[in-house]
Amino acid sequence: MTRYDDVEASSYRVAREISLEGLAPWRDAVAPYLLPGRTVLDLGAGTGLFVRAFGTWFPEVSVVAVEPSADMRRASGLPMLTGDAAAIPVPDASVDVVWMSTVVHHVRDLAAAGAELRRVLRPGGVVLLRSLFRERHGGIGLFRFFPEAVRALSGFPTVDEVAGGLGFAVRRLEAVPQVTASSLADKASTLRQEADTLLRALSAEEFAAGRERLLAAAAVESGPVVDHLDLLVLKTAGAV
Ligand SMILES: C[S@@+](CC[C@H](N)C(=O)[O-])C[C@H]1O[C@@H](n2cnc3c(N)ncnc32)[C@H](O)[C@@H]1O
Repeated sequence: MTRYDDVEASSYRVAREISLEGLAPWRDAVAPYLLPGRTVLDLGAGTGLFVRAFGTWFPEVSVVAVEPSADMRRASGLPMLTGDAAAIPVPDASVDVVWMSTVVHHVRDLAAAGAELRRVLRPGGVVLLRSLFRERHGGIGLFRFFPEAVRALSGFPTVDEVAGGLGFAVRRLEAVPQVTASSLADKASTLRQEADTLLRALSAEEFAAGRERLLAAAAVESGPVVDHLDLLVLKTAGAV
């Protein structure tokens, strides 16, 4: 069971999925790792946003998707294996890249996950994380309208906690922009409290007040909504 078993996975798709155009900076950021012939494991693949993105951007890469939530697997409409970070259903040394997008804050036992990542990665393999880290949240626009959501940050690990907990070394860390919505009005229309860890921390009153602030801003501001999440690249300690 994961918390996404009791969330409408369709709500996640409406609220959290971003257009491939909006994700273009992520294509550029991960391109050096997703080379032709490589196998990528999308761990916690959710509704398949990056399975579809990688298939479009990097057609010569093989993507294996693993997802614990039956609702998310079903909503994806894609072939996905049942498993999680502590029990990855793929053979030893069978993938070149592990991709974890907005997943690591859900992983309770980082040491167990790290052991599984080392088992499934081929020598020289990398782990790519797309995530919000507790000490690096300046790129998230939602806090402007929902300042109380900062409470939820306590549930997010820091970069050092992730790298140290998994037992890997940091090779790259940078904020990557994305067009999260075409406008604030678009953002307001797709907002779903249950689909976002940050918003789930709010009371109904806090969420309603923030939504009002967002709608007021949307009435006077146009232009795309740009947020930043971090790309963290990890390699096994000692790898070159
Ligand atoms: C915020 S969603 C991200 C989905 C997808 N990676 C994306 O970026 O659209 C988090 C996903 O992580 C999955 N998840 C939760 N705990 C996990 C774990 N321990 N190992 C792997 N995946 C997990 C959830 O079921 C959910 O699908």
